[in-house]
Amino acid sequence: MAFISNRCQNSTTGMSKQRIFSGVAPSGNIHIGNYLGAIKNWVKLQDECDSIFCVVDMHAITLPRDPEELRKKTIEVAKIYLASGIDLEKSTLFIQSHIPEHAELSWILNTIARTGEMSRMTQFKDKAELHSGNSSTMESVPLGIFNYPVLMAADILLYDTQVVPVGKDQLQHIEITRTLANRFNKRFGNTFIVPEPYITKEGANIMGLDDPTKKMSKSAKSDYNYIALNDSEEDVRRKIKKAVTDSGSEIVYRDDKPALMNLINIYSLLSDKPAKEIEKQYKGKGYAEFKTDLAEVIIKFMNPFQEKMNDLSDEKVLEILREGAEKVRPIAKNKLDEVKKKIGFVL
Ligand code: TRP
Repeated sequence: MAFISNRCQNSTTGMSKQRIFSGVAPSGNIHIGNYLGAIKNWVKLQDECDSIFCVVDMHAITLPRDPEELRKKTIEVAKIYLASGIDLEKSTLFIQSHIPEHAELSWILNTIARTGEMSRMTQFKDKAELHSGNSSTMESVPLGIFNYPVLMAADILLYDTQVVPVGKDQLQHIEITRTLANRFNKRFGNTFIVPEPYITKEGANIMGLDDPTKKMSKSAKSDYNYIALNDSEEDVRRKIKKAVTDSGSEIVYRDDKPALMNLINIYSLLSDKPAKEIEKQYKGKGYAEFKTDLAEVIIKFMNPFQEKMNDLSDEKVLEILREGAEKVRPIAKNKLDEVKKKIGFVL
């Protein structure tokens, strides 16, 4: 389960590449936590793996979305992938709703998933609470939030995915995907590859700037929680200045200083300097100087990133996404046909 390196080299033949699949929902404000926790890893993995990355618009609608906003965000997420360094020579990008097999497989998996296992998902519990404002009032919580992990399992299993690079908060969903794959295989014969998660130590844990006990969140109430990938230089300086710190005044990387650890992680991941070195660099210096520099490190990363995003036209990106869908469609169709045969649908 843990932290895998060189995952994509196929150990038996040393030849064919392993398949990875991942996705981001076009909702809320995509932030540096999404980038550092997930997308940055994808960029590394694509060199060695057969990589498919999806904009999961069907997941986005599990909470009410403005349709215009959803369309805009869907293209924006694809731009973020491309600006992060996802290379079309190595990876395929597409929009989830362009491949109806996701919805079809999701329905079939719904019939083998159990309500008990869905209700234990922490993301469901959090979102249900957010939606109703009260965890005991389940009446009005959309069903789509409840079986969100089943759709995610369908995404992964449709493509014979071996490795799923995600943020740490998604581990439970990978676990349920594995459970569903095993259950189906046991009942109907070997059909699905049982995938493994891929998580890196530092990137897995980018926390909220206003609350280092919870992960940075796209849908946080306050925008002081995150640095969005389209924040301006002023936004970045303002938010880092206000980011909570721990008591004391030294810049130290220690478990009992969760706020500082988080800020040092961000610094370290964006500057490729080890945390220990950053600690040394700020020995005898205070929070103010450290924070000023951190804001500049973030801005130095964001400027070229935003420039790349602005250079991509909506039309061009949509064309890329449509081409991507045509590339993956046969894979999805073959797998779904196999599933339909196994369960007794007449083809
Ligand atoms: N649930 C994931 C998240 O919130 C997004 C997602 C949907 C995903 N389908 C996926 C990630 C398939 C990996 C693989 O981050």
